[in-house]
Amino acid sequence: MPSPSGPALRLGIAGLGTVGIGVVKIVQRHAELLQARCGRPIVITAVSARDRQKARDADLSAYAWETDPVALARREDVDLFIELMGGHEGPAKAATEAALAAGKDVVTANKALLAHHGQTLAETAEAAGRVIRFEAAVAGGIPVIKALTEGLAGNAMRRVMGVMNGTCNYILTRMETAGLPYDTVFEEARQLGYLEADPNLDVGGIDAGHKLSLLAAIAFGTRVSFDDVELEGIGRISIDDIRRAGDMGYKIKLLGVAQMTGRGLEQRMTPCLVPATSPLGQLQGGTNMVVLEGDSVGQIVLRGPGAGEGPTASAVMGDVLDIARGLRLPTFGQPAQTLAAPVAAKANSPASYYLRMELMDKPGALAKVATVLGESGVSISRMRQYGHESASAPVLIVTHKTTRDAIDHAIGQMGSTGVVLGDPVAIRIEEV
Ligand code: NAP
Ligand code: HSE
Repeated sequence: MPSPSGPALRLGIAGLGTVGIGVVKIVQRHAELLQARCGRPIVITAVSARDRQKARDADLSAYAWETDPVALARREDVDLFIELMGGHEGPAKAATEAALAAGKDVVTANKALLAHHGQTLAETAEAAGRVIRFEAAVAGGIPVIKALTEGLAGNAMRRVMGVMNGTCNYILTRMETAGLPYDTVFEEARQLGYLEADPNLDVGGIDAGHKLSLLAAIAFGTRVSFDDVELEGIGRISIDDIRRAGDMGYKIKLLGVAQMTGRGLEQRMTPCLVPATSPLGQLQGGTNMVVLEGDSVGQIVLRGPGAGEGPTASAVMGDVLDIARGLRLPTFGQPAQTLAAPVAAKANSPASYYLRMELMDKPGALAKVATVLGESGVSISRMRQYGHESASAPVLIVTHKTTRDAIDHAIGQMGSTGVVLGDPVAIRIEEV
């Protein structure tokens, strides 16, 4: 006997690009399956985008068209507003606020919006008895928000980390496998359409930093504090670094790490070396990986597609179904009013470092470098000098555990040795 059906959940979708059209396709393709799973029909009533004449890969003729996403958010025949336009100001913010004010729940894939305004929007939503869900905003198709807020809710989280920007991982792994320099692979990524309209969001680590700040808020019960994320992009990583890190048994990844320390909340999104044999080290191409560590569960590794039409729309629909089923959780896993203001701690927890420098090839040069390191409290674990034909030699050093402050101090003194050419490169080696 068919089960009784509840009232339809009526969706209004603002943004009909990669993700928006992906959502339309799932709703159209899986109408029966969705209804069976949540006990009520999921229907689209209205959509919005900038250009109504643009050819789109789905039939939208059954839906009302709104030119203004704010008007869409306020429509009486919309129960759930889905924001898939992007951008942390402008229409995405205005329409999300309008939807909440009009008593609608919101699903968004917009990490920038929540990284900048997540606390205010969450407080607004919760005061109005509404929910905001954002599974698609972090690591695309990987259900990491659900894992943190639900499956791992009984854990005190120790550390959250991961590779959360597929474009950067594509660039780094392509440099390695094809032996191509950064600029060439960056251009390839542009041709393939991988880069955001502003590429610095990807290669500058900003997009991944947005994502990390959202995970940190849930994991540590703190207000989203994107401004405190230490950001460093991949633009300075050379093919030499990739090769030489490989010689030492490491891969270079744009790695996000958030952890609560005795000094406060550390959040960093920076290039790191990870062991080549670790799951993170083996991550290829545009794939994402998130590692969650809780006091009871230990370590969980989630891996999957971090972007693209299908995976991102899949995550949006997971949120839609939760709302259709009546699941109503606070945005960041606990009431927004109870989230603590985080004390930002400089990422100074001890780690080994990879140092690459160009040394003048003359007697006593290495000794001078070793002295500077020693005087800065940095101890050498391994060292390698490469064969060379010029008057300078590439030298690699892996240190014992030390602090970033000590490394920065040592690098600051290198110029005074008179034997180090150019700026040394220092990359943290993360234990994963
Ligand atoms: P997209 O392909 O560029 O599509 C953006 C859509 O928003 C377009 O349909 C555009 O209209 C519409 N739009 C932009 N400004 C608008 C305005 N002022 N008024 C009405 N509509 C407007 O973007 P996307 O890749 O689908 O990304 C959407 C969101 O998902 C972003 O927040 C992004 O960060 C996030 N996200 C994307 C991915 C991914 O793999 N693409 C993964 C995770 C998260 P027109 O089509 O008429 O130009
Ligand atoms: N630019 C992002 C990436 C898209 O490369 O991962 C998904 O958020």
